[in-house]
Parts: sequence; C-alpha cells; structure tokens
Amino acid sequence: MGISHRIKMPKFKSVLVTGGAGYIGSHCVVDLLNAGYDVIAIDNFANAVCDDEGSPALRRAEQITGKKIAFYKADLLDKPQINDIFDKHDVDCVIHFAALKAVGESMQQPLLYYQNNLLGMLNLLEVMRSHNCYQMVFSSSCTVYGEPEKLPITEAHPTGSITNVYGRTKYFIEEMLKDLSAADEKWNIISLRYFNPVGAHPSGLIGEDPTKEFSNLMPYMSQVALGKKPVLTIFGNDYNTPDGTGIRDYIHVMDLASGHVAALKVLSDAHGRLKVYNLGTGRGVSVKELVDVFQRVTNTNIPIKYVERRLGDITAMWADATLAKEELGWTAQHTIEEMCTDFWRWQTMNPDGYAKKQKTTFIAVNGKS
Ligand code: UFG
Repeated sequence: MGISHRIKMPKFKSVLVTGGAGYIGSHCVVDLLNAGYDVIAIDNFANAVCDDEGSPALRRAEQITGKKIAFYKADLLDKPQINDIFDKHDVDCVIHFAALKAVGESMQQPLLYYQNNLLGMLNLLEVMRSHNCYQMVFSSSCTVYGEPEKLPITEAHPTGSITNVYGRTKYFIEEMLKDLSAADEKWNIISLRYFNPVGAHPSGLIGEDPTKEFSNLMPYMSQVALGKKPVLTIFGNDYNTPDGTGIRDYIHVMDLASGHVAALKVLSDAHGRLKVYNLGTGRGVSVKELVDVFQRVTNTNIPIKYVERRLGDITAMWADATLAKEELGWTAQHTIEEMCTDFWRWQTMNPDGYAKKQKTTFIAVNGKS
C-alpha cells in the first residue's frame, strides 16, 4: 500500500482536510501524516463523534502517527470562520470530504442536502480563491454513474442519471468543478469517485462510528455479529447475479486513503486541470459472498433474512480502476478478508465506537499503557 508515497517528501506541505474527523477523513489524515504532510483538519461533527476535548478519532490518528494535527470545529456554511482558518494557516491544498451522505435522509430533506453540500462547497472554493489556494482533491462517489450501462465502469461512463438527492449533490459539484476549471486555469482539481469503502485502520484504533442510524452493509452486519442487532436483512435475492444478491466493489478505507496521497503527489506536479479517477478494486463481490467471508474470518455467525429489494438499489457495480493505476500509480492492495478482519478488530476493540475507551487488549498489543 503506497509505500513509495510514504518515503518521498511532498511538494505541498500543508493540507487542509474538511470532514477530517469522519470515517474516511480520519483514515486519510493518518496516511497524510505518515507521508510527511502538515494537516489542518476541520469538522462540524454532523456525522462524527465529538467529546469535550474535540475529536477522539483525530486524537487517535495522532496516537497512531506520533504527529500533531491542527484541528478546528468549523462549519463550511460559516464562511467567516473558514476564512479565519485560512488566514491562520498557509494552506497548499484542500481535501474536501465534508458532506451529508445518507441516501434516505437526502430524499426526505433535499434542501438540507443542497444547502450543506453545495453551499458548503461554494464557500470553500471562494475562501480558497481569496487565499490563492487552487489545489483540491474532491471526495466524489461512483453513485454519479447511476445504473451502469456497462461493467466494469470506467470514468468515461455517462454521469447524471441518479436516483437520489445525495448522489445528485456529488454530480452537481463535479459539474461545478468542470465550469470552474474551464473558466480559470489556475484551478487544479482531482475528483475521486469512491466505490464502497469498508474496513478500518489495522491498529483497531480508528474506524467507522456513524452518529446517525446506519444502513450500510458492513457496519450493520458487524452489529449483528456482535449481537447488538438480531438479524441481517439482505435486500433481494432475485437479482440477475450468480447468487441473486447485489454486487458491489468494496474497497478498504486504507486503500482509499493511499489513493488521496497518490492524488496529492500528482496534483503537485500538474497545473490547471480537472481530472477524475475511480477508486475501487475492480472486483465485484456479492452481499452473500461478503457475509460468508465475514463469518469465516471473524468466526461469527450472522443470522440472515432475505427481504424485498431496497428501493433505489442497483444490481451490480464495480470499477475499472486502470486510469488511477496508470496516472496516479495507485492500485488497491487489500483483500476482502482484510477488509472484514480490520473492521471486526475495530468493532470488537470499540464495541461502543468512540464513546468508550478502547479495550485494554489493544494497549497490551502495542506495548503502551
Ligand atoms: N445491503 C443489504 N442489507 C443491508 C444493507 C445493505 O442487503 O442491511 C445490500 C444492499 O442492498 C447492496 C449492498 O448491500 O446490495 C451494499 O449496500 P450499502 O448500503 O452498504 O452500500 P450502497 O452500495 O447502497 O451505497 C454506498 C453508500 C452510498 C454511495 C454508494 C456508492 O452508502 O453513499 O455506496 O459510493 F453512494
């Protein structure tokens, strides 16, 4: 995983990470620190755990790396506050994760999603421009492709026919970025389209701890394995796939993180452009397969129940990640087994997420007390 990115000193020194306390953000911060960047992280804690001292995820990121993070509780809708942070720091580049991302909620509260995701992005771009910062990595999603016309999906696949508001905010932002980079060649932007991020940092110290009720497969499945939920409902076993369940391209969150470090390196060598890359493994895995692997590697038993298809779900989606390999020098390294093992380590060491201190087994393993 990205060894070459870790040993070369970056041309950019300081990277501002929005949504830095969140699931993907906090894992990316670890890789950025390991790669030698100075990290300024901001988060409004809309979907990340916060305690009296700030972000437990980011404190643990500091513990993992032995490096310090400049952290601000800040909201992108509060433009003067963002402006102040840019006044205080010489930001070379922004990685923009902060967004609301619950598909169901987005359908019920479209204005909330448009305001938060679109206006937040507009404020950020304006503040960046006024501080002569024109480099950005944007956190996009394979959801922009809608129902695939052809698999695997390349970046050339049409975008825009999306069935949910959350996905449309990602699509609209990509369109906005196209207009911006066409109008002003100072902008230098990479948009990364993630497939299905799962797993956790191998230390078990940081992982996914959504503050809202979650519905994604892996966190739900591991709650069932822990005995906190009685049964995993599988949404549909009548899809046109080998075992009848939906197929996705699950990618280890540490592979996603190393994809951002690879993107930064390429961004620092280029000028005036907008590039889009898929970040996926290129391998489709069915719900049933993922459940089987999870049970096997964690030695747990997950009761399942087949129910109707979930509204808006697509049959199958996996990436062609050739472009990221050719141009970013990046490929996903982790197996499905590692994704399950690492997620389970995080879950069992932190059964209540960040709310409680991790179990002492971790401290013993790492020789710290
Ligand atoms: N699934 C179940 N039971 C569950 C949860 C999920 O059977 O309890 C199935 C779904 O039907 C689907 C697969 O597991 O076939 C994966 O579902 P997830 O909810 O984990 O992920 P999605 O592919 O629906 O969506 C995720 C994110 C979106 C993002 C998308 C593409 O939730 O925000 O990946 O990036 F847009």
